Amino acid sequence: MVIFELKEVTKIYPPFFKALINVSLTIEEGEFLLLTGATGAGKTTLLKLLYRAEVPTSGEVFFKEIPYSKITSHKLNEIRKKMGIVFQDHKLLTDLTVYENVKLSLILSGKKSKNMKFEIYEYLERFGLAQKAQKKVKELSGGEQQKVGIVRALIRDPEILIADEPTGNLDPISINEILKILKDLHAKGKTIILATHDPVILKQNLGRTVMLNRGELVQE
Ligand SMILES: Nc1ncnc2c1ncn2[C@@H]1O[C@H](COP(=O)(O)OP(=O)(O)OP(=O)(O)O)[C@@H](O)[C@H]1O
Ligand SMILES: [Mg+2]
Repeated sequence: MVIFELKEVTKIYPPFFKALINVSLTIEEGEFLLLTGATGAGKTTLLKLLYRAEVPTSGEVFFKEIPYSKITSHKLNEIRKKMGIVFQDHKLLTDLTVYENVKLSLILSGKKSKNMKFEIYEYLERFGLAQKAQKKVKELSGGEQQKVGIVRALIRDPEILIADEPTGNLDPISINEILKILKDLHAKGKTIILATHDPVILKQNLGRTVMLNRGELVQE
């Protein structure tokens, strides 16, 4: 089943910068899709269209055959609850603690957790962040913040994981740990969409790779 479809999507940032040009792409449910391309090619823009943080200038984006332009805000909220998103710029609440950031995400996802505290600490432990749990996010290093952004998305056990350059500030061991978790999620049938220009990750044959070149999609 197709989970996302972009049909002839063009995105122009005002007044006239063409970030995406006539992009058509289908993403299957359960697929592991890698999105690559140079800086400024339009990767983040494409991901934002998938979770409806941006709206196409022309063309249409569909979620399971429902056009986003016709979707109700209630339905959109339901869809977003199923998503885990790792933002390129983290979007953490930097005056709150690591624990609070992760907890908030878990609560907003509507996911039931028998022992929330245990579950959160288990994830933080896995990323070497347990000792930082009660620190404010603004007191962490860039790489640590990036890891918190990843934990915040993963804790929801999302149906769809959208990750925008999640490993840019991380060391190889952390990157491997994250890739292992993404592979496990994929094996459980979840849809993974990963934007990266890390050649080490791209070499690993995690799934279909599509490339953007100055806003135009170049297949495999
Ligand atoms: N809100 C915005 N307003 C105007 N222009 C924008 C906006 N967001 C992005 N752009 C422009 O659109 C182009 C594509 O940006 P985008 O962030 O999608 O690229 P990217 O492929 O994710 O790059 P990177 O690898 O650096 O993350 C860039 O040239 C950028 O300057
Ligand atoms: Mg980007």
